[in-house]
Amino acid sequence: MKIGIFDSGIGGLSVLHEAFHLLPDQEYVFYADTDHVPYGLKTPEEIRGYAKEIVEFLIDKGVDSVVVACNTATSVAIKYLRSTFSIPILGMEPAVKPAVEGTEKKRIMVMATPVTIREDKLKDLLHRVDENHRVDLLAMPKLVEFAEEEVYESKEVYSYLEEQFSDFDLSEYCALVLGCTHFNYFKPAYRRFFDENTLVIDGNNGTIRHLADVMGLELSRDNEIYSDPERYIETLNRTNYYFSGRPVNSTDELDRLKRLHKRLEEVRNN
Ligand code: DGL
Repeated sequence: MKIGIFDSGIGGLSVLHEAFHLLPDQEYVFYADTDHVPYGLKTPEEIRGYAKEIVEFLIDKGVDSVVVACNTATSVAIKYLRSTFSIPILGMEPAVKPAVEGTEKKRIMVMATPVTIREDKLKDLLHRVDENHRVDLLAMPKLVEFAEEEVYESKEVYSYLEEQFSDFDLSEYCALVLGCTHFNYFKPAYRRFFDENTLVIDGNNGTIRHLADVMGLELSRDNEIYSDPERYIETLNRTNYYFSGRPVNSTDELDRLKRLHKRLEEVRNN
């Protein structure tokens, strides 16, 4: 099966990375819209336009389904994409439901881009699952920039987090939900601010499981692929990467992707 995965940038790699773990035998086409990142500061109309072009591009490459590995694009474009294209199109959803169901009493923080926070999709989700009003929302647009620059654990990142968190008493939180795929790269940095028992939850695992379900694919035993470096390299080499429609084939860019996958592997179970 050939699966297209796209995002505004390298956040979507965290979803592809999870797919390597759970569905290592599939073929992937990964598209990062690096010319237009960040989506989180664009208008819904602009984002819908980019998303439509990308899905057309991926369909042209022969994909059987598309994963919108971007919470922001999912928020504003998923309905439109599904009504425009006939192949299965899956989106991201901030993992609020597992956070609410897996914890009691204490508060839950959901971090996302300004667009995701403003849109009805997240509000509707909270309306459905956050019965006791335990969820707080926090926009973290600058983390997208830091991730794109591969700056994860630096003074600037820590002071940005400190400033953003300054209105909250973090000891009241039992879960932190990553509602933007770019935020995965910073898992160790969040740990410096929250209690060690605080759950840090992203939506990647749920999305890939859902993909397997929709496409009738069997999940692999987790982690198998990374314990076998040859299989990992083979999967990586079988994947076609594009930056805004341009094939990624320079050594520098490929090295960057390998570095990013390495980082994602390090922080995956953090
Ligand atoms: N990675 C994206 C998300 O999940 C969007 C980040 C951005 O481009 O602002 O929301």
